[in-house]
Amino acid sequence: MIILAIETSCDDTGVAVVEKEKGRVKVLGSALSSQTEIHKKWGGVYPTEAKREHQKNLIPVMKKALKKASLLEKGITSNSKEIGKILSRESFLLKETENFLKKNKIKKIDAVAVTTGPGLEPCLWVGVNFAKALSLCLDVPLIPINHIKAHLFFFLFEKEKIKFPAVALVASGGHTELVLANSFSSFELIGKTRDDAAGECFDKAARILGLGYPGGPAIARQAELWKSEIQNPKFEINLPRPMMYSKNYDFSFSGLKTAVLYDFLSRNERTKKSKKYKAEMAKEIEEAITDVLVFKLKKAVKEYRAKTIILGGGVTANKTLQKKVKKMEKEFPGIEVLLPSIRLATDNAEIVGAAAALEKPAKDSQKIEANANIKIYDKMR
Ligand code: KG4
Ligand code: ZN
Repeated sequence: MIILAIETSCDDTGVAVVEKEKGRVKVLGSALSSQTEIHKKWGGVYPTEAKREHQKNLIPVMKKALKKASLLEKGITSNSKEIGKILSRESFLLKETENFLKKNKIKKIDAVAVTTGPGLEPCLWVGVNFAKALSLCLDVPLIPINHIKAHLFFFLFEKEKIKFPAVALVASGGHTELVLANSFSSFELIGKTRDDAAGECFDKAARILGLGYPGGPAIARQAELWKSEIQNPKFEINLPRPMMYSKNYDFSFSGLKTAVLYDFLSRNERTKKSKKYKAEMAKEIEEAITDVLVFKLKKAVKEYRAKTIILGGGVTANKTLQKKVKKMEKEFPGIEVLLPSIRLATDNAEIVGAAAALEKPAKDSQKIEANANIKIYDKMR
């Protein structure tokens, strides 16, 4: 089964062609267009602009992915009039799609998959409408995919089975959640952030320090420059570890960002601009955020006797976090730790394809809707 997967939930336009064969999933072709440069000036994602970019990028990105998969030849896929209705709100994309489908023949696709949420609603709709149009023109089913599930199923490219229960930590720009998975289709929420997401905290802290956007990788780079033995004298920055010892599994990161701001404002101008201060502060931010995430992850693994740990979402690309979680293998003998590569941790369409390999198609593909707040768990602990 060959799936054409589409991702437009935030500021990355992704298309991937994946093949499912006996439970295993492999990538036949994939392409991604990131809008980081465009959103840099706002220090965050600007939804209207992101939506416009998705409209511009979807056809070129899809073309690249299909070419890589050798699934494109000269000819006609369709000149269906129906897609005018489906893409009526995306007039630019409509023209591009009509042109493309009249001049190119897409071969061998068995299903289309698309992220329907959570994410930025205007962005999600571009992908959803585009996927509906393709499903109609190719006459194949459409598989709606939850973005968080996609983040957690990156490992399907390596292995088809894992042991349950699994505890998953989802940490991205919009989410920080601990989820208990009892099977590939049953999830319970253990805890979540009460305010900012971990990625949001990285992004806001980086903005305070003038390190640019996205903040996570910028802070990680600065933190790497910090070496305890040569970093003398130290600025003695001690950030809080919010809610670390709270009885539940919830998180809170907005106070941490405020603590960064207060420390920054208390310094003189020379210190604020100094490389040493930025490196030490970045190191402490990274330590504080990852300490809290790992502490609660460990607690959940113990309580729920997890056999597998899964990390997913942009923040889980963080090397310090990955090192701390990897160490848990020693602390919990027999446990399997599944860590995503940087490419699969951040938003992309390959993981949408992987998740689609486990999912059933919608009964009526034309009824699929974007839902910015959709959840993966059916229960809360
Ligand atoms: O999953 P993702 O690509 O998009 C969302 O669904 O939000 O996550 C993006 C977030 C951003 O907040 C970014 O700063 C953070 O992930 N991030 C990182 C790293 N790489 C990306 N945070 C910490 N360390 C990293 N290496
Ligand atoms: Zn994401």
